[in-house]
Amino acid sequence: MASTSSSSTTHFSAESYFATQLPPPTLAHDIDGVRAFVARQRAAGKKVVLVTSGGTTVPLELNVVRFLDNFSAGTRGATSAEYFLKAGYAVVFMHRQFSLQPFSRHYSHSTNPFLDLLEIETPAPSSSVASTSPTPDITVTSTQRADLLEILTSYKHAHTSGLLHTLTFVTVNDYLWLLRAVAQELAVLKHSVLYYLAAAVSDFFLPRQKMSEHKIQSGKGSLLIEMDQVPKILKPMVDEWSPDGFVVSFKLETDPTLLIPKARAALARYGHQIVIGNDLNRRKHEVVFVARAAQPPTVAPALPSSDLPSSEENGDVGLNTVSWLRIAPDAQDVRGRPREIEEDIVRELVGRHQAWIDRWGGDA
Ligand code: PMT
Repeated sequence: MASTSSSSTTHFSAESYFATQLPPPTLAHDIDGVRAFVARQRAAGKKVVLVTSGGTTVPLELNVVRFLDNFSAGTRGATSAEYFLKAGYAVVFMHRQFSLQPFSRHYSHSTNPFLDLLEIETPAPSSSVASTSPTPDITVTSTQRADLLEILTSYKHAHTSGLLHTLTFVTVNDYLWLLRAVAQELAVLKHSVLYYLAAAVSDFFLPRQKMSEHKIQSGKGSLLIEMDQVPKILKPMVDEWSPDGFVVSFKLETDPTLLIPKARAALARYGHQIVIGNDLNRRKHEVVFVARAAQPPTVAPALPSSDLPSSEENGDVGLNTVSWLRIAPDAQDVRGRPREIEEDIVRELVGRHQAWIDRWGGDA
């Protein structure tokens, strides 16, 4: 039997985690970039959102050959980042390397390969230069041109205006170190910063002290791995790293009856502002906002009335408000493109965040 560890698991607090696990080598460089970005946005009086996106890996070896991963493609985060930019926010987009990114997500290799948008056009041969054959040209398929132009324009604007700053992580360790350091930089923005934690973060990990240095060998029967629990970082984030920030976490479940109780438990435990619950199979057209009762909904979702949840599902549940947001699975926008629930999620959050700033002040 191969085993990665023979000792029992340790309970890691955030503090003991950061005291015993090593930071990623690029952390200092990454944070220099964030600091400069925050200074620019602060001078410009911008609201800033940190969007986390995609899944984290859990390596099983120090010289990593194998790792655990999860399903997240980063769609929620990449899509939401676009809508935050549209709403006038500056965006720190912290995502899993190679997961979807704002704008380029529209041309993902699996759903809409970029090469399929292009045509090769060979000009007619010129009679004046008989010996050289004309160089073929590349054009965009006419049916795709309008969409591509719109996306390209937004993409170029996000980059030339300096409103989008991108960071990458791979492992859960990278994620935790980066999240803490970025939150500590963003804290200077006080109530003007919104945290939108859509990444799917592993709940279990192998501390480096228990990892095999080299590839785990087979040939000894089954593999037993005992993992430690990743510390819950929302608590120190709210209490210490960025106490004035408006923090939105996500709760993913596969049993829909657990969504609201789990979301309420998270709010009570961590003391942040909103949990957005989503069921794995319905997440693209249904989410539920569970908030502390002090922040009632301020913005009605701009949905066709047929999409609205029945009113008795929404309302106060003890100390929390519960509001469902739904779009029809086949809903389209005015141009016939599929509607994206992230547009409604972001609109709702922008309203709630503004109410928070109006109540407590911006970065003063
Ligand atoms: O990327 P897609 O394919 O579009 O999918 C989107 C999504 C389903 C991944 C997204 O909408 C979502 O639900 N993300 C959160 C999933 C998740 O990790 O849930 P969780 O129960 O593990 O964590 C809940 C919250 O606690 C998270 O917001 C996380 O920031 C926080 N957390 C998690 C682990 C940890 N150690 N400490 C934390 O504070």
